[in-house]
Amino acid sequence: MTSVVLLAAGRGVRMRSSRPKVLHEAAGRPLVDRALDTAFAVAGDPANVVVVVSKEGTAVGAYLKANHPKVKTAVQDPPRGTGDAVRAAAKTGAFGKAKTVVVLSGDVPLLEAGAVKGLVDALNKDKKAAVAVLTATLPNPTGYGRIVRDKKKSFVRIREEKDSSSSERKICEINTGTYAFDRAFLEKSLPLLTSENSQSEFYLTDVLSLALKAKRKVVTVSGDPGAALGVNSREDLAVVDGLLRERAVRAAMRGGTTIRRPETVTLDETVVLEPDTTVEPFVTLLGKTVVGSGTTIGQGCVVKNAVFGQNVTVRPYCVIESAVVGDGCVVGPFARLREGTDLAAGVHVGNFVETKKAKLHAGVKANHLTYLGDTEIGPRTNVGAGVITCNYDGFAKHKTTIGADVFVGSDVQLVAPVTVGDGAIVGAGTTVTKDVPRDGLAVARVPQKNLEGGGAAYRARKKKS
Ligand code: UD1
Ligand code: CA
Repeated sequence: MTSVVLLAAGRGVRMRSSRPKVLHEAAGRPLVDRALDTAFAVAGDPANVVVVVSKEGTAVGAYLKANHPKVKTAVQDPPRGTGDAVRAAAKTGAFGKAKTVVVLSGDVPLLEAGAVKGLVDALNKDKKAAVAVLTATLPNPTGYGRIVRDKKKSFVRIREEKDSSSSERKICEINTGTYAFDRAFLEKSLPLLTSENSQSEFYLTDVLSLALKAKRKVVTVSGDPGAALGVNSREDLAVVDGLLRERAVRAAMRGGTTIRRPETVTLDETVVLEPDTTVEPFVTLLGKTVVGSGTTIGQGCVVKNAVFGQNVTVRPYCVIESAVVGDGCVVGPFARLREGTDLAAGVHVGNFVETKKAKLHAGVKANHLTYLGDTEIGPRTNVGAGVITCNYDGFAKHKTTIGADVFVGSDVQLVAPVTVGDGAIVGAGTTVTKDVPRDGLAVARVPQKNLEGGGAAYRARKKKS
């Protein structure tokens, strides 16, 4: 059995953030989730994974409880280095009688499970080996622990950048922070760690030196430099985010999405694009967004957690969040669909229309300059330009219900709560304050006066003065 420890208790000082580093997101997912993907794949069962967190009840602990209730947590308080973190995990008894303990860092998000499994195999192949460490050779190794070797190229130690000499700094082979340990040896060694280094921390990397001292072997496995990137700063985060989003865009194209300017498109990894979709330039699709086949998302749209059916046309520059858009709808340009918008098939929502908690049944048209909030509108109803549901009376929100086949003329205000019956007509400019009966006609306007020659007389008066 393999037990996996995921280190996530570090302060992440270099992020300069009140949010724990591992909860920062790349391509729409917290870093810790990526590391957990790897941890689960290696451990087989989430119950064999223990995450080291900094304090009881902090954000990381709460996040794990809510999203990954099966993983164990170990509290390291205060965080005094990676060795101390693994100690905290060992103390909980989480390793049991596991043959191997794998240690992963919560801030190395591009690591693949295959590389870690290879590391475990490398450890198990060599009877004398106490630990296998994944290394990588980077053109710029700044910030990482270096793999120091002797003349015969045998492993000697890992030296942290802050503790290293200028010649050691030139070493380009680095420690990725990924290890497979013989569990028994690890447990014996952890109490022997000291904090005699520039950071006064207990370094996990010192366990490797202890292995050599105990005449055991340290196996090094050289891995993909692209997967080694550790996130220590916001700059690192941007690099990881960019790489993952680029991958997501490429995967979308392979999956049948037309993206003509891929370098301008921002996709969270969690977005689902069905085949034969089109994403135009400068589109941002985030969260749990799903785009059905045949649908086009127009230039410059920003979309989060929205579900689009098939053959939807979203014209340019719409902002859409937590909305459901049915088959064949036409949206925008410049529409804003907010949370709780639910458009059935064939609905048209045009330019400068805002919707919120609005259920529009099949074939509804609201094409221009309209606010529809807290409302349900029956099939085939036409909502004219400039219509406003007055849903808020200064104290509470109220609902507007409009039936099927209604014609709401331009510049109508519907003062909620109010109901307009099926087949009714509301004249342009009406302020609807009373329910309109089925097939009724509502008009509320100041009667128009026409003064014969009044326009000319007015102009003449103005000219004189
Ligand atoms: C560490 C390694 C370094 C390696 C690099 C790879 C050590 C001493 N150094 O350095 O050799 O090249 O990772 O990315 O191990 N953590 C805790 N508790 C602590 C301190 C850290 O849980 O007390 C966690 C952090 O949350 C993080 C991981 O351990 O997920 C690594 O810690 P970090 O401080 O980032 O170590 P590096 O300086 O990057
Ligand atoms: Ca790090």
